[in-house]
Amino acid sequence: MSRDSPQKAAVIQNCSAKGPSTTRLSALEKYFNSIFSQEPDFYVRVPGRVNLIGEHVDYCGYSVCPMAIQNDILIAVKKSEEGKLKIVNVDPAYRTPYNGTTNNIKIQVKAGEAPDWFSYVLCGVKGVLEDFPAGRKPVGCLLAVNGNIPPASGVSSSSALVCAAAMAAAHANELDMSREELATLCARAERYIGTEGGGMDQAICLLANRGSAKHIKFNPLKTEDVQLPANSVFVIANSLTTLNKAETGCYNTRVAECRLATQVMAKFRGVPGHRVSLLAELQDYLGISLHQMLDLAKEALLEVPYTKKEICSVLEVTEAQLNKQYIPNNILHIDTFKLRNRALHVLQEALRVETFVTLCSQDISAELALKRLGELMGQSHVSLETLYECSHPELDRLVALSKGSALGCRLTGAGWGGCVVALTTTSTADAYIAMLKEKFYKGHPSVGNRDLDSLVFATEPSGGAEVIPA
Ligand code: GLA
Repeated sequence: MSRDSPQKAAVIQNCSAKGPSTTRLSALEKYFNSIFSQEPDFYVRVPGRVNLIGEHVDYCGYSVCPMAIQNDILIAVKKSEEGKLKIVNVDPAYRTPYNGTTNNIKIQVKAGEAPDWFSYVLCGVKGVLEDFPAGRKPVGCLLAVNGNIPPASGVSSSSALVCAAAMAAAHANELDMSREELATLCARAERYIGTEGGGMDQAICLLANRGSAKHIKFNPLKTEDVQLPANSVFVIANSLTTLNKAETGCYNTRVAECRLATQVMAKFRGVPGHRVSLLAELQDYLGISLHQMLDLAKEALLEVPYTKKEICSVLEVTEAQLNKQYIPNNILHIDTFKLRNRALHVLQEALRVETFVTLCSQDISAELALKRLGELMGQSHVSLETLYECSHPELDRLVALSKGSALGCRLTGAGWGGCVVALTTTSTADAYIAMLKEKFYKGHPSVGNRDLDSLVFATEPSGGAEVIPA
């Protein structure tokens, strides 16, 4: 198939007018050919995402409201009947190739180190193979990756890679899987990296609909489109600090703190610990409202940090039992857990998601809706900074600069670095972006020769994952 064939151009237009350009696909095809001396069978495109509200609540079972962005991962795919699994990347920063087979996928992660880039691809393929129909033999895949989602910046470059690989493997094997099944499988498979994430990123990457944000509920996974106010414009601004979740224990420590808070609150109310593992499950079990859960958290959890010994004594378990049930391997050495503040953030943030989604569907003026959405985003950031302690001084600086120029601004994604998302309008977005370029990026030592338009940009809700025929 020649690069600019009308068929390919038509498919691209149908699938995604704002999707990958023909130039990018052609460059990927050329690269694929130069490495494998063959033509790809098909391409997969999976977008990154920006979370509008609902941070650090998905792994507690509460709903979130993200949207997909235009930046994406593209993979060119060719089936290999001999079961080979070869992975290469166009970007010279990720040049180490992977060369193996589908029957023996091992994902190696060294403590305290960022995983090899292809480990995320392996997670996706492994996830699909684990759910493979009995009696069928999987085909292998030759995969060439080209992504333009900023890495380790809170806009889901890793999950997009996992989802793209899973979609490639599922399509190559002609598996009949729903997007919900694929999203759930990807969320599970990404945990091979060692980070015990929730399911937000995988769900939005796979299920997004162009033009809408999504309200995503978990256990079971359910999504609903959210129509954002007509003149809203969300701007993403990179703080020029990065965090690889798998490299540090920060993220898993928050996951553990939420699990432990759930257990201490359950114990306080006489709920058998083994019946609930997430805050949302405890709420369901008790049949109470989010406001009542907040009261319970305030009553049951001490303000001072807990040591492991203290938690063991409250829960009447040994340290070995506690470690086995609630503490991820890479943070077994952590001995201080702040249960009250973490639970308060999660429960208040869950309430903010409900209010945010309701405001988007309410029959009120766009002006009022935007003002209130912006306030919720501002409250979310304060909570992430103070109660959840997952911000970064540079994120806080972006948020402070945004006061008065944007309706609301908050860190997005896991935090500890990465990006902020700001709510502006069609008439204020350009001036806001210009202000940040002047006051934050101009002269910033980490900008280097990067194009400022790739560091701060307006985005609109993009479509979810798609398969593009070659
Ligand atoms: C990461 C995880 C998500 C979610 C966010 C924080 O992106 O992958 O599951 O927990 O952090 O909201």
